[in-house]
Amino acid sequence: MIVGSGYVGLTTGAVLAYLGHEVTLLDIDTRKVDNLQRGTLPFYEPGLSEILQDVKLNYISTWHQFDQTTDIVMIAVGTLSKTDGDVDMAAVDAVAQSLGEQIHSQFNGIIVMKSTVPVGTAASVKGRVERGLDARGIKKEVEVASNPEFLREGQALFDSFYPERIVVGTTSKQAQAILHDLYLPILQQTMQVPTVLDRPSNDIYPVFINTTSVNAELIKYTANSFLAMKISFINEFANVAEKVGADIREVAYAIGLDKRIGPQFLQAGIGWGGSCFGKDMRAIQHLAKEYGCEMSMIQATIDVNNRQREIVIKKLQETLHILRGKTIGILGLSFKPNTDDIRESPSLDILRKLLDLGACIKVYDPLAMQVCQSRFPELTVEYCENVETLFNGCHAVVLVTDWQEFRGLDYPELTRKMVKPIFIDARNVLTNEQINEAKLMYVGMGRGGLKWVKEF
Ligand code: UDX
Repeated sequence: MIVGSGYVGLTTGAVLAYLGHEVTLLDIDTRKVDNLQRGTLPFYEPGLSEILQDVKLNYISTWHQFDQTTDIVMIAVGTLSKTDGDVDMAAVDAVAQSLGEQIHSQFNGIIVMKSTVPVGTAASVKGRVERGLDARGIKKEVEVASNPEFLREGQALFDSFYPERIVVGTTSKQAQAILHDLYLPILQQTMQVPTVLDRPSNDIYPVFINTTSVNAELIKYTANSFLAMKISFINEFANVAEKVGADIREVAYAIGLDKRIGPQFLQAGIGWGGSCFGKDMRAIQHLAKEYGCEMSMIQATIDVNNRQREIVIKKLQETLHILRGKTIGILGLSFKPNTDDIRESPSLDILRKLLDLGACIKVYDPLAMQVCQSRFPELTVEYCENVETLFNGCHAVVLVTDWQEFRGLDYPELTRKMVKPIFIDARNVLTNEQINEAKLMYVGMGRGGLKWVKEF
C-alpha cells in the first residue's frame, strides 16, 4: 500500500503495479481519489497516464479500508518547508498516527519512508506507531525502513525503471529481503520495457545499497545538495565567463569530460527551481544548525541561485533601460521542461518582480499555464495561446524554461513581431547560428564571447 497520491506516491505506485505487485493507493483527499478512479491525474508526467491505463491500481480514501495482510506500507505524503526551513512533518505524523490506530496484532508487514524526511524520521515514525499500538493494548514492534526516491520530474518513469542505485535503510534482515524482492525486476533489469520508454543503450544494473535508516535519510539530502551546488557552481563561473569574454558552455563541456567532475548538472542559466532542491537545502541547514554545524557551502549555493534570478532582471534593465510600461514576454512557467510543476519556479519570481517594476507581462508555456492561472489568479499577466502571440508587440522576451519546442522556433520570423528584438536567453538554449540568423539583440548567461548581432 502506498499512502499519498502525489508525485512520488503515484509514480511509485504505477511502477510497482507495472512490475506485477498488487498496489493500493490511499489518499485521504477524496476528490483526488475520485479523479484518479476516473483516470484524471493531479499532475502531468510523461508516460504516466499510459502506464496507469495498463496496470491495476486500487484507490482508497479511508484508513478503514486498510488491509491487515499488506506486506509493505509506503509513506509518500508531502513534506513542505516551514518558515524556519524545518520540514513540516504534519502529514507524515498523521500517517504514523493512523497506522498506530489501525494496525492489528496480525499485521506482519513493514513500513517504508519514501518521502524526503529529516534524519531520524524512520525511528520517530516507529515510535509513534508503536505508542499508538501500545495505547490499544497491542505489544508489537514495527519495522520502519527508509527508501528515498531520486526521481526527476519529467523523467520519473525512466529514473524508476533504470535507477543507478536503490537505497534501503534498515538493519532488519526481513525488511531488507522484502525490499530487495520488491525491486528485483529492476535490480536484475528483467522487467519488460514499458512501451513508453526506451531502454538505455548502456545496460546498467542498479546498485542495491543496504544501510542504516539514518544513512539513507542523509544520502537523499546530500545528493540533492550536491546537485544544486553543481548548478550554482557553474552559474558563479558563468558570471565571470561573461565578464572576461569566455563561453561557459565550452568551459562546462571541457571540465565535464573529467570523470571526477562529470558532464551532468553543469548547464549554466537561471538556476534551479522545483519542490526539492530548495526545500531539502533549507531542511539540511536547519538540521545542521540544531547540531551547531554551519553549512556555508549550502548557504552559498542558495545565495548564488537567488542571485541568478536577479541577474536576469538586471540584464533586462541594462538592455531595455525603462521597464515601466514595456511589454515583456516570458517563455516558460514550469521550473523545468516536461512538467506542469511551477513550485519554486524561477519564472514566477521573475514575472512578479517585473510586474512590481511596472512592466506588462505576456507568458506562454506548453503545459503549465492552466496550473498557474488557477493557483495564482491574482497575477495580472496575459496568457498567450502560442509562441507567435507571445512575441507579438514585445519589447523583450525572456526564455526561462528550456522546453524542447523553444529550441526549434522560427526566431527570424518571431523577432519581426517584436517592437524591439531583445532576447534574454536565461537557459542558453539558442545556438550561435540561430542568434545570427534571427538578428536578435541576444543576451545569454555566461556567453561572453558572443557579440550582439546589431546594436539597437
Ligand atoms: C531533483 C533531483 O534531480 C532528484 O534526484 C530528486 O529526487 C528530486 O529533485 P527535479 O527537481 O525533478 O529532481 O529536477 P532536476 O532535473 O534535478 O532539475 C532541478 C532544477 O535544476 C531545474 O530547475 C533545472 O532546470 C535546473 N538545472 C538542472 C539547471 O539549472 N542546470 C542543470 O545543469 C541541471
